[in-house]
Amino acid sequence: MASYKPIYEFSKLTRIFHWIRAIAIFALIATGFYIAYPFLAPDNFSGEPTGFLYALMRSWHLIFGFLLIAISIFRIYLFVFTKECSFERKSFLDFINPIVWIKILKTYMLLGGHPHMKGAYNPLQLATYMFVMFLIVAICLTGLILHANVYHEGLGGFIAPAMKSLEVVFGGIANVRLWHHILTWAFVIFIPIHIYMASWNATRFPGSGIDTIVSGVKFEKEEQ
Ligand code: HEM
Repeated sequence: MASYKPIYEFSKLTRIFHWIRAIAIFALIATGFYIAYPFLAPDNFSGEPTGFLYALMRSWHLIFGFLLIAISIFRIYLFVFTKECSFERKSFLDFINPIVWIKILKTYMLLGGHPHMKGAYNPLQLATYMFVMFLIVAICLTGLILHANVYHEGLGGFIAPAMKSLEVVFGGIANVRLWHHILTWAFVIFIPIHIYMASWNATRFPGSGIDTIVSGVKFEKEEQ
């Protein structure tokens, strides 16, 4: 019978941040689409302009938005500098190796088994997750420009000069809003593919399950 040895893949903070960001992104998509198209109005039977569902959605959008920003900054710091993420950083060794790229593409095309990885991610995963990180930075920056455009005191006022310059780069606030909206769709497309690929990987290669992002541990077949 094949035996498997446990390998500690994801640190506690990596896992906690993954799930907080997942919840934040779901909430931001829901509240963001409501902001774009407020299809519901509170029915308070009075005819008075009360209820303020739109304001409530905007508040939650900003709360989850700033949560996403805070966690993403901390996550980038962890990935780049800390010892607990050294296994994740080792993935770059495979990323720069064309042979591993060919092997992993063959794996996904059902033409071969899974090659042994030096780090936590295969090259395709690392490329995808770096792109997702870029998307997060882009949506957070466009979100901050929109925020500073409305809130002129506190943090909004503090970041306003920098955000104004960025707004000019985008060609005006209307374009910023459009890009913020288009970027939302990038997440809407990424999420089902991400869940599908993680499930596919987990069912096809025993040992690397979805539970790794909960427990932190994956299992690797021991050489007999
Ligand atoms: C995954 C992350 C995010 C998603 C999916 C998202 C999605 C959206 C969407 C769809 C809209 C409506 C755009 C439209 O009118 O067509 C919106 C508006 C907005 N978002 Fe985000 N957003 C995200 C992150 C952020 C962040 C990090 C901030 C900054 C704190 C932010 C601040 C705003 C602001 C200020 C508005 C405009 C609200 C208004 O016009 O009243 N968003 N967002």
